[in-house]
Order: sequence, then C-alpha cells, then structure tokens
Amino acid sequence: MTSEILISPEPQALIDTALALIVERILTAVGERQSCAIALSGGSTPQPLYAALAGADLPWQQIHIFWGDERYVPAEHPDSNYGMAKQVWLDLVPIPPANIHPMPTDLTEPQLAAAEYERQITTYFVPATGAIPVFDIILLGIGDDGHTASLFPHTAALTVVDRLVTIGDKDGQPRITFTFPLINQARSVIFLISGTSKQAALAEIFAPMGDLAAYPARGVRPQGELLWLLDAAAGEQLGSGT
Ligand code: 6PG
Repeated sequence: MTSEILISPEPQALIDTALALIVERILTAVGERQSCAIALSGGSTPQPLYAALAGADLPWQQIHIFWGDERYVPAEHPDSNYGMAKQVWLDLVPIPPANIHPMPTDLTEPQLAAAEYERQITTYFVPATGAIPVFDIILLGIGDDGHTASLFPHTAALTVVDRLVTIGDKDGQPRITFTFPLINQARSVIFLISGTSKQAALAEIFAPMGDLAAYPARGVRPQGELLWLLDAAAGEQLGSGT
C-alpha cells in the first residue's frame, strides 16, 4: 500500500484536485484494461465532485459505476446516494444505462439486497474462484464519528470478512455497504474529506495507536494506493505527506 495525504487550501481546490486525480486514474484504467470500475461514496462532500465529473471528457462506454454504500431508501428518496449522483452527474453524460449499477434498495429485506449486489459485482468482475474483485477506484468519505462507507463504529459490519457486501447499521437504520475485504482489494482508494467537523475523527484515524471499532476508517488499508484528499479545514491537525 502507498499512502499519501494531499491538503488543498479550500473546498474548490479540493474538488479540482480530486477531479484531476480521478480523471487520470480512469484514463489509466481504460488505457491498461479497456475498462474502469469505480465505486462512489455518498453524503454531501462528493456532490460538487460528481457535478465536475459531468463536465469531463471521459470514455463513458468503458466506465462502470458502482456504489460503496447506500441508504436503504428508494432511488427517488432525497437520502439516496444513487439518486444524488444520477441527478448531478450520470443523467448529464452519455454513459450507457447498463454501466450504472445502483445498489438494490427495493427488496423486502436489506440482507437480500446485500446478497444481490454481491452477485452483481461478481457477475461483472467474474473473479477467479475465491478471489476478491478489484475495483479500479473506490471513493470514500468519513463521518464526524470516523465511519466510512456504511461501516459505522461498533457495528457487526466491521467484522464481516467472508462477504463483499453486507448490512450497515446507522442508529438502527439499515444501510448496504462494501466490506473491508472488498474495499482493501482496490487499486486506488480515495478519501474526499472537507470541513472542520472531520478534524477530530481524522486525528483518531491517523493516531499511531487507535481503536478501529471506534474509528472504522482506520480499517481502510488497500493493497493499492490510498489517497487522503483533504481541504485545510479538515486537515489542519495533519501534515501533508504520508
Ligand atoms: C453515506 C456515505 C458516508 C459519507 C460520510 C460523510 O452514505 O453517507 O457514503 O460514508 O461518506 O458520512 O458524509 P458527508 O460527506 O455528508 O460529510
């Protein structure tokens, strides 16, 4: 794993940096493997990044969009991570509908949805028996509590190692989420983090000794590269570098 922290002076510079790095990695993936599989994060931070990606000149036919986590709500619900990315980005670019892979949130049980999404992922990647699929890019954020994706502190999802997708639990509300084994198989994991509210969690995540159960983002240690893209408000207590 290679790890790097890049701190941008303000939120727009953070988005500009993230856009350039993600476009570069998408083009590299398509150049090397004729395809790019990217998993999106949700929440509010990535929304301007997704809007900027809508203006990028990319090989949309070769790009496949997945989600690293999803709230268990319909696509048209205001909390839907898929609905947000669709509105600000995916509806605005010529990406084939078959290349967009939202997490199912219309099944009777979240457990069924997690299993179905895992099936969709393995159908797309067709990994060797027992191998874990390798996403080219996984975008992540962190909550003020140090969660990432829908891997929340002190929840069962943190210990799931025999599945690719599982159930997250946010204060009793079900989520669908990638597991650590799937996240950590990625070629590139990129955190996009903005604002002073994330400072305390970042300090705990980067502490030499810490509690993964309390700050789950500590568990993100991909076999490929790990980029922490922060604005100065979020990264004030951290230095650039690794
Ligand atoms: C989600 C996300 C989640 C998010 C953090 C940060 O579904 O909410 O995937 O992990 O990245 O909660 O959210 P903000 O960007 O809104 O602070």
